[in-house]
Amino acid sequence: MRGIVCEEIGSFRLRDDLPEPEAGLGEAIVRIRRVGICGTDLHAYQGNQPFFEYPRILGHELAGVIERIGENGEGLRAGDPVSVIPYLHCGSCVACRNGKTNCCTRMKVLGVHADGGMRERIAVPATHLVKTEGLTWDQAAMLEPLAIGAHAVRRAGLLPGEDVLVIGAGPIGLGVMAFAKAAGARVIAMDINDERLAFCRSWAGADETVHALREGQDRLAELTGGELPTAAFDATGNVRSMEGAFERVAHGGRLVFVGLVKADLTFRDPEFHKRELTLMGSRNATREDFRHVIETVRSGLIDIGRYVTHRSDLAHMIADFESWLEPETGVIKAILEL
Ligand SMILES: NC(=O)c1ccc[n+]([C@@H]2O[C@H](COP(=O)([O-])OP(=O)(O)OC[C@H]3O[C@@H](n4cnc5c(N)ncnc54)[C@H](O)[C@@H]3O)[C@@H](O)[C@H]2O)c1
Ligand SMILES: [Zn+2]
Ligand SMILES: [Zn+2]
Repeated sequence: MRGIVCEEIGSFRLRDDLPEPEAGLGEAIVRIRRVGICGTDLHAYQGNQPFFEYPRILGHELAGVIERIGENGEGLRAGDPVSVIPYLHCGSCVACRNGKTNCCTRMKVLGVHADGGMRERIAVPATHLVKTEGLTWDQAAMLEPLAIGAHAVRRAGLLPGEDVLVIGAGPIGLGVMAFAKAAGARVIAMDINDERLAFCRSWAGADETVHALREGQDRLAELTGGELPTAAFDATGNVRSMEGAFERVAHGGRLVFVGLVKADLTFRDPEFHKRELTLMGSRNATREDFRHVIETVRSGLIDIGRYVTHRSDLAHMIADFESWLEPETGVIKAILEL
């Protein structure tokens, strides 16, 4: 079987002798057709993802077709097009028992803690497949990154018409914006990259954009009648942005950290206290979020065609990959076709 293995930091190898996956109890064999590439893959390749073990087959944004499947409670059959929910949860820990499978204490993510989908076939528990009839392969592969944003928006419980700030206009922040718009919010996008801010307007339908360095707080206040947004999402993964975000939210508002950073964050308690701020983490997504994303994509509200900016195949990906690390290439999302 063909596939690409990340053998060590900075080194991929195309192989045609990978062992075929074996389906364990309750598992299906999926023929992979698309793999979305994301920051996690870039970090694994560059070696700044400390818990990564090598060799590893990357790839967790997956679409394909079921080749083999046994009896299952999901109504799935061979031949069904599917997307993979790559977060393998334990089902019995405190988070799982409370329905929060997205933050399982024993989480194993395919392509991160276990081998992922940059190969022709993978074994996946049937419980972690969602049928994607009517979607293109590209759309089906983009459900995972979009579900991250959908989950964060669901966490915040947005109300129609409220002013919402989304800081960070990468693939994750863009998804947050799209689902905040779908929830009826007025979206203010903030970033430090003008091209990405322009894309927020044209792709995600952001109502306003603010350049975090050139404009900042005064502009944000001006856009919200001096009151500031009632909900803010930080999707930068940048310490200074996340720390600053505490002061960008209205009194009584909520702040959701979708982005994450391996660092300590500090904030001024009086700013937090006087606002009675609600601070939330947001990790991964659940099956419910995947379903919501499918419906939203089906309704035509999300243009996957322009979200995917770069593509490659097994034969060329290793050469193309380095360029996807450079923002100058205008990359939002790269996709591997198999
Ligand atoms: N919640 C989850 O489960 C989950 C899943 C995947 C990724 N993430 C995290 O989401 C974050 C975003 O991921 P991405 O792939 O979109 O990243 P990205 O690097 O493509 O995008 C980040 C954006 O933030 C902008 N930015 C950086 N510093 C800024 C600042 N000070 N002020 C304003 N904008 C700033 C950048 O210009 C860029 O457009 C990362 O931290 C990533 O680890 C979270
Ligand atoms: Zn991803
Ligand atoms: Zn669990």
